[in-house]
Amino acid sequence: EIETSLRPRYMDEYIGQAKVKENLKIFIEAARGRRESLDHVLLYGPPGLGKTTLAGIIANEMGVNIRVTSGPAIEKPGDLASLLTNLEENDILFIDEIHRLSRSVEEVLYPAMEDYALDIIIGKGPNARSIRLDLNKFTLIGATTRAGQMTAPLRDRFGVVLRLEMYSAEELCEIVTRSASILKIEIEPGGALEIASRSRGTPRIANRMLKRVRDFAQVVGDGIITKSVADQALSRLEVDGLGLDAIDRKMLHAIIQYFGGGPVGVDTLAATIGEETVTIEDVYEPFLLQLGFINRTPRGRCATKLAYEHLGLPFSGES
Ligand code: ADE
Repeated sequence: EIETSLRPRYMDEYIGQAKVKENLKIFIEAARGRRESLDHVLLYGPPGLGKTTLAGIIANEMGVNIRVTSGPAIEKPGDLASLLTNLEENDILFIDEIHRLSRSVEEVLYPAMEDYALDIIIGKGPNARSIRLDLNKFTLIGATTRAGQMTAPLRDRFGVVLRLEMYSAEELCEIVTRSASILKIEIEPGGALEIASRSRGTPRIANRMLKRVRDFAQVVGDGIITKSVADQALSRLEVDGLGLDAIDRKMLHAIIQYFGGGPVGVDTLAATIGEETVTIEDVYEPFLLQLGFINRTPRGRCATKLAYEHLGLPFSGES
């Protein structure tokens, strides 16, 4: 988990995601102007791109409290009811991994989102009746790596749906430079760019690498992160020039060597390299797809010519 000190607190400190930021600024200003709660917001995209950070920024910009929880942490409908009844007017409830809410919890969420109400069942059998409890107006911010895995009724109840994109090397370079300054790490522009271009479009990875490269700079060098120190450190960490790590390469090698370049089903691939299917789908695949190293076909994953070339393997197929 990223140190909280590295998380930007206001929109103007948040680097990248220009479209998301511009739109959010307008929705926030409009809601503030009307003294209303912001409409419910769904943030989706690969892990580590700043969904939690953005939720915190929205709360700060709206001037309201935020309660942070996650889909798996809300086990029973009563857990959600207690979170909701403790929110003050216009507060934010942030639910990370919202696609993992159970069905029974989700059903409590529908009237809460739509009518700011809880329907409570009292009694059992023929005597059971339902009473409606009013809630304070609130904003639900949901985050998920997989919008496709959410149920349609839940997805449809978000008024604002925003997709976070991977960051460019230039944006990551700015983030690394900012983080280095907060952590009082000396870094040359070439060092920042080296880390940025090898962190797979992901600020969380860039910030993690920054700290590991600092360790090398301190012990092996003179404490300053230069391009050369960053390069040595990242090579030792088995991060290659494009930012692929040992597992990315293992996955590409498996597709090519065991399955003739594909197609291979993701479950089979996962079993072959000893990772979980969801980890492959959420963590590894997005970046390899972005690089154009794999294709997803109805029959499974295929390695592309670019992947063969990157690994220095001869390509004979047609994908
Ligand atoms: N740290 C992590 N993500 C960031 C972002 N998008 N902007 C600035 N600092 C960050």
